[in-house]
Amino acid sequence: MMNLPLLHKQAIQAMPPLMELHTQYPGKYWMPTADSYTYYRYLVGMVRALEPTQVVELGGANGLGAHYMLSNMPDDSNLYTVDIVNALSELRAQPPQRNNAHILIGDTRDMTIWDECGVDLSKTDLWFFDSDHTYEQLTAEWTLYSRHFREGTVVMLDDVLLNEGMWQAWQEIPQAKLLAPEIHFSGWGLVAA
Ligand SMILES: C[S@@+](CC[C@H](N)C(=O)[O-])C[C@H]1O[C@@H](n2cnc3c(N)ncnc32)[C@H](O)[C@@H]1O
Repeated sequence: MMNLPLLHKQAIQAMPPLMELHTQYPGKYWMPTADSYTYYRYLVGMVRALEPTQVVELGGANGLGAHYMLSNMPDDSNLYTVDIVNALSELRAQPPQRNNAHILIGDTRDMTIWDECGVDLSKTDLWFFDSDHTYEQLTAEWTLYSRHFREGTVVMLDDVLLNEGMWQAWQEIPQAKLLAPEIHFSGWGLVAA
């Protein structure tokens, strides 16, 4: 059984200083005092601590989070990121040196998006649930994707304190979990399958 508090501590210890993000993605200028990017630093810390071979991100936006994870994942690992709009512009503009990014455009609730890339979702070590922050969306995604969780799977969720619906969906998650608002004020969650 995954020791979540220990993993969380290891991820925090492996977080890079803010300015290291700037060297990993020179397209962005980071304010040295800015605290709002703690969760990007945590994404890096988590992939450094867990060393996943397969990561799935639900809700990729401009691809910045995906970029930071990919830049710090082990060789031969893969990251799949989904967004409903044709976004992920940052990831496309400056793909990390090891370009093992798989960009999928579609609705996370439409499982046919996975057919074309032929990925085995049960091989995912690390999930990042970060799409539409509503009760309906999170519970629908949890129903669809949790069947692919296995012993040792780790899930990160952003914004679980953002609204009542997200908080309710978070509370209904039956697996072992840890709430870490120090990573993101809007509520950062960690779950172990
Ligand atoms: C908070 S942003 C994701 C940020 C990203 N994870 C990061 O760390 O850089 C949420 C994204 O979810 C996407 N989204 C919302 N509903 C979705 C759905 N049903 N399927 C796929 N993507 C969705 C939105 O288009 C938006 O880009």
